[in-house]
Amino acid sequence: MLTNGLQMDTAGSWVIKTSREVRYEIVETTGLLAPENPELGRLHDGQESKGKRLVVLDHAVDRLFGEQIRTYFTANDIAVDYLTLPAGDEHKTLAQVELIARRLNEIGTYRVGTPPIGIGGGVLQDVVGMAASLYRRGIPYIRVPTTLLSQIDGGVAAKTGVNHDGFRNRLGTYAPPPRTLIDRRLIATLPERQVRSGLGEALKMALIKDPVLFEVIERYGKSLVAERLQDSSPETSVDQPGRIVTHRAIAGMAEELENNLWETELRRIVDYGHTFSPIIEMRALPELLHGEAVAMDCVFSAVLAANRGMLSDDELGRVVSATCGIGLAPSHPMFCDADLLHQALTDSVRHRNSDQHLTLMNGIGSTIFVNDLTYSEIKRAAAQMSDLLDVQPDCLTAQASDEAHVEVPRARDASDASVGNPDASGATSSASTK
Ligand SMILES: NC(=O)c1ccc[n+]([C@@H]2O[C@H](COP(=O)([O-])OP(=O)(O)OC[C@H]3O[C@@H](n4cnc5c(N)ncnc54)[C@H](O)[C@@H]3O)[C@@H](O)[C@H]2O)c1
Ligand SMILES: [Zn+2]
Repeated sequence: MLTNGLQMDTAGSWVIKTSREVRYEIVETTGLLAPENPELGRLHDGQESKGKRLVVLDHAVDRLFGEQIRTYFTANDIAVDYLTLPAGDEHKTLAQVELIARRLNEIGTYRVGTPPIGIGGGVLQDVVGMAASLYRRGIPYIRVPTTLLSQIDGGVAAKTGVNHDGFRNRLGTYAPPPRTLIDRRLIATLPERQVRSGLGEALKMALIKDPVLFEVIERYGKSLVAERLQDSSPETSVDQPGRIVTHRAIAGMAEELENNLWETELRRIVDYGHTFSPIIEMRALPELLHGEAVAMDCVFSAVLAANRGMLSDDELGRVVSATCGIGLAPSHPMFCDADLLHQALTDSVRHRNSDQHLTLMNGIGSTIFVNDLTYSEIKRAAAQMSDLLDVQPDCLTAQASDEAHVEVPRARDASDASVGNPDASGATSSASTK
């Protein structure tokens, strides 16, 4: 039987097949808040604004840039209303999403012509994005990330989300905004600790696929933090490590996402640093920032790789030194707790549909996936993480020297290798991304 061309198959069901092209842009600009810069007010696809738009700010952004932002919209005669929200992962909740949805409704947001604008860090972007993706089953929104982490990571990605029941991003959607605006100058006001946290994600990208980025981080770690990636000193203005780090990290992320935006392929090298850290980050909240926990996971995973002979002692030392060089601690007591790490892996295995799909480095800038990590390997690496508790961040000078790298103590071979695989799958699958 034919109904508008849709034919019932022989089993007696209708199959609806459709596809939608997804295109979103990440626009780099400077002077984003200058009234003469059209980017902030511009709609996607050349659309005209039809009514009032909601501008959602995080508290710090409102305090630092609120006046400039209000001047911008007034000067450009763009009708907007404002909502200011707290940042920090403890505020990444469904309640914040509901609050945004309520305000979108109150101001009469249209289906397409009045996309809300989120100006703030990764937490604000995740809640604004989730609210927009749920409001009227999905409206476009504009993303203006203002932390390093959100500019190079979440600002490139398609995901929104909130923490729920003690789990990171347990509720969320895939909903990339049509436009993301990046102005590196906006991160000049970040507290140093937030810069360090953002560099944790850049380090992850370097370790999995970009040895050039790794060398820049290794060499300029300390000045990147001190100058908040603004390339402001004579030393950095020529080589521009700040520009290189943001560009290469964004490009690396975009490249990885383009072919796997909806994560139908569960083996994702960008999950490096995100296997063991999610539960630890939530347990430690608010002690550990996202990038801080990610960097520790990167080091832990590097120790696992070194114990398998996939990283040399020298390479492992460089990973730890680079981590310290950007002012991040390589370890934490929770990363020495084998049972907690095992529990974190078990949750990641569920997320990856019952496989470990664990990304391990196979040299700096290269990875393989493994599915056979055992509890004894976790235990052995956790013991080595105890030794790293004494290694302090900031242990390098601005110009890292060859002799400055840190020796990572080798733990004795674990004698309890029979404890077995946390998910008991045992099989090894490796996909070289070299
Ligand atoms: N959606 C994704 O794909 C994705 C990817 C990576 C990270 N994330 C999420 O991002 C979150 C972390 O983001 P974050 O590190 O930006 O944290 P955050 O949003 O909490 O911001 C960190 C702090 O910086 C302040 N701040 C923001 N901009 C500032 C500025 N220009 N100057 C001074 N202070 C400023 C904020 O008020 C906050 O206090 C986590 O929840 C993480 O899960 C999401
Ligand atoms: Zn992350």
